[in-house]
Amino acid sequence: MGSQLFRVKSIDKLIAEADAPERRLKKTLGVLSLTALGIGAIIGTGIFVFTGTAAAGEMVKYPSLLKAPLLDVLLHGNQALTTGRPGAGPAIALSFFLVAVVCGFAGLCYAELASMIPIAGSAYTYTYATLGELVAWVIGWDLVLEYGVSNMGVAVGFSEHVNRLLQGFGLHLPASLSAPAYSPAAGWAWHFNVPGFTIVMLLTVLLVIGIRESAEANSLMVAIKLIAILVFVFAAAKYVEAKNWHPFMPNHWQGVLTGGAIVFFTYIGFDSVSTAAEECKNPRRDLPLGILFSLAVCSLFYVSVAVVLTGIQNWKTLSNAAPVINALHAIKLYQVERWVTIGALTGMISSLLVFQLGQARVWFAMSRDGLLPKAFSRVHQKFRTPHVATWVAGVFVAIPSGVFDIDTFADLANIGTLFAFVLVSLAVLILRRTQPDRPRAFRVPMVWLVAPLSVFFCFILMAGLPVENWIRFVVWLAIGLVIYFLYSRKRSALASPDNPEGA
Ligand code: ALA
Repeated sequence: MGSQLFRVKSIDKLIAEADAPERRLKKTLGVLSLTALGIGAIIGTGIFVFTGTAAAGEMVKYPSLLKAPLLDVLLHGNQALTTGRPGAGPAIALSFFLVAVVCGFAGLCYAELASMIPIAGSAYTYTYATLGELVAWVIGWDLVLEYGVSNMGVAVGFSEHVNRLLQGFGLHLPASLSAPAYSPAAGWAWHFNVPGFTIVMLLTVLLVIGIRESAEANSLMVAIKLIAILVFVFAAAKYVEAKNWHPFMPNHWQGVLTGGAIVFFTYIGFDSVSTAAEECKNPRRDLPLGILFSLAVCSLFYVSVAVVLTGIQNWKTLSNAAPVINALHAIKLYQVERWVTIGALTGMISSLLVFQLGQARVWFAMSRDGLLPKAFSRVHQKFRTPHVATWVAGVFVAIPSGVFDIDTFADLANIGTLFAFVLVSLAVLILRRTQPDRPRAFRVPMVWLVAPLSVFFCFILMAGLPVENWIRFVVWLAIGLVIYFLYSRKRSALASPDNPEGA
């Protein structure tokens, strides 16, 4: 039993399989297109929403320990009883910077694994080849949170921005058709977020038909969203009033940490660069560079937006669903507001598309390995796409997008992703011990410092998330483990008696 849970796929076999002529993907991507791919996935809704809400903090109706960050409860026990989380204030710019550093540590670890195992499938494949089947299952299950739940959040943010755009044309969608059914502040209502639901279903149809996710189309969308952000930064910079930056840290380090735990959402996606490993010209060099460059570019943009946004509006006013756009409205830059909204919407669509695609591929890979039902790896006869996995991923994301609010999703996506980073960082250390001689085109510098720091800081950020979110995460993992032990373990391809690796 123990050996079954820790059975691993052989790295050499994985590489050889991917290199088989009938399975070889076209190798066209270089550093530039990989960086564009990374930025395409990273910049979605987060920067346009959480820069404001994390700066302002969040209040809830009833005081509860469940709403308090875990770290606070661990340090202060019952005194952590809270009616919300503290805002970072203007120091949200600092949160963005510090989170970029943490992601940089994890990014280095991803880069080493990607350069060593240049195979599609990201963290799921890496852990299957290194830490064994059980951990791979946990991470695959966890990636569903990362890709699926963060996309639910992006869809909700998309809907808010569609609303703002329509309002600019004098059209108002009723709340019953455009607001989530649940939000922590307002509780339940007879609402359904139709735009959020619809965009996910439309993209699902596109993905089933087989939209070519060409690097060029992606680069165009990336260019549009970067221009939208630049327009915001440069147009709004003239309206900055230094008094808005005082006090810089109204809720001290606690605000910076809880703010960081929220804005971590904005960085989710850089790991998706590694999923393109099989399509790289020189993966061993270009993957690490693509990951690190896309992180660097995004953090520069994020810190700039944070500095300008908290400079043009007092941080306390930023607690709304579209703070960047509303701030432009408040300083009467109506034309800029419209263009930035359109750019933001384009960015959100590209981010949604990349994640829906990635999610279906993870389910596809897990099904091919026998861990999920075979239907998930069925390929459409005409369109040659994993249509069942794509439809399931679509419905799985679209329905909750109509029901819940963005903060609930972001917290859950964050904890899931941070946990994946922890496992990836540990995998690097374990492989350094167990397979020291395997060629690594990229090696994490000072790995015995960087990887443990990555694990430590990921836990610190996780601890900045509310207790109720930890409970949801543990329940999610528990459901995953039940499925693994009742279903996947026996059906795993590695469990087959004629599979030599299954021993
Ligand atoms: N990083 C993505 C975003 O900001 C999920 O929307």
